[in-house]
Amino acid sequence: MNYSQMKVLITGGLGLIGSNLAHRLVELGARVTLLDGLLPGHGGNLWNIRAIKPALTLHLGDMRDQATLETCIPGQDLVFNLAGQGGHLDSMLDPLTDLELNVRAHLELLESCRRLNPAVRLVFSSTRQVHGIPRYLPLNESHPIQPIDINGIHKATGEYYHRLYHSAYGMPVTILRLTNTYGAGMRIVDARQSFLGYWVRLLLEGKPLPIFGDGRQVRDFNHVDDCVEALLRAGSNPLAIGKIYLLGGCEVVSLLDLASSMARLVPGGGYALVPFPVENKKIDIGSCCNDFGNIKSDLDWEPCITLANGLRRTVDYYAEHFAHYVSV
Ligand SMILES: NC(=O)c1ccc[n+]([C@@H]2O[C@H](COP(=O)([O-])OP(=O)(O)OC[C@H]3O[C@@H](n4cnc5c(N)ncnc54)[C@H](O)[C@@H]3O)[C@@H](O)[C@H]2O)c1
Repeated sequence: MNYSQMKVLITGGLGLIGSNLAHRLVELGARVTLLDGLLPGHGGNLWNIRAIKPALTLHLGDMRDQATLETCIPGQDLVFNLAGQGGHLDSMLDPLTDLELNVRAHLELLESCRRLNPAVRLVFSSTRQVHGIPRYLPLNESHPIQPIDINGIHKATGEYYHRLYHSAYGMPVTILRLTNTYGAGMRIVDARQSFLGYWVRLLLEGKPLPIFGDGRQVRDFNHVDDCVEALLRAGSNPLAIGKIYLLGGCEVVSLLDLASSMARLVPGGGYALVPFPVENKKIDIGSCCNDFGNIKSDLDWEPCITLANGLRRTVDYYAEHFAHYVSV
């Protein structure tokens, strides 16, 4: 992977994944630009880039705004398109905002790239949620697309647009379908973006972690460093052009086991089973885990950070920087 002097734009660059990717790209000698609207209720946080701010260019603006895109897109070699909204319940409560952020914004970006910089390499962060309730486990890329919430429909639509701009205009696009991703820099205020982020907050406030239902449903998780490594490989290997890859975690755990591992990280930590809220239950995909065999064989990527190690690092980070994440 040679990112030295490469001009790279990260949309959603102040959020969990974008800011961690920015750190790595700065280390690798890339010329990094971030575009982020710091949208309320999302994961963007200027604290995430405090150490690298002088080494990059920051555009505080919205990806739906053509004038902003006209400033950011020309001259870039690569765009990591990570802007988006990940809240599933939010998407059901406010579907039109989800449409704006997960569909229209991406069409604006793709059209700007086509007009202003059609050779630019694009990597889009989608989600395994486009597959809906799994018919079999582990999920693979051939599993039907059958989203069960507005967010899944819109992320799938974002994928289709990226695929179309590849097939119709020859733009070099790769799509990664991420699994639950966590780590330093995620939103912890509430559970709108990530239940795991909110659990970190509750843990550090000495409150029990609420597990919906019986806690027996399983998930896999990626520490953000593993996700960043996958993005870097996807952005630098020509074999990835035109491909879709599912990421997956090192381990498959029940939510009960996850809560009990987290509770052990702080003195007095605990958890409690609570009734599944009706609105969440309607869009719950049940158990899920992913087969990451395709990205392993093409790009030699596999997750390396165990849940025990990743959670320890994450909780330690928030114990130190708590105030910067709960007051935003
Ligand atoms: N974190 C996960 O578990 C996960 C799982 C699957 C997919 N994803 C996808 O990966 C991407 C990044 O996720 P994240 O966890 O870093 O999210 P995040 O909320 O931490 O960061 C997203 C950033 O995008 C910005 N943004 C959103 N819409 C924008 C717009 N129109 N213009 C400018 N900025 C905008 C927000 O301000 C925020 O800073 C998202 O597209 C998300 O759907 C994440």
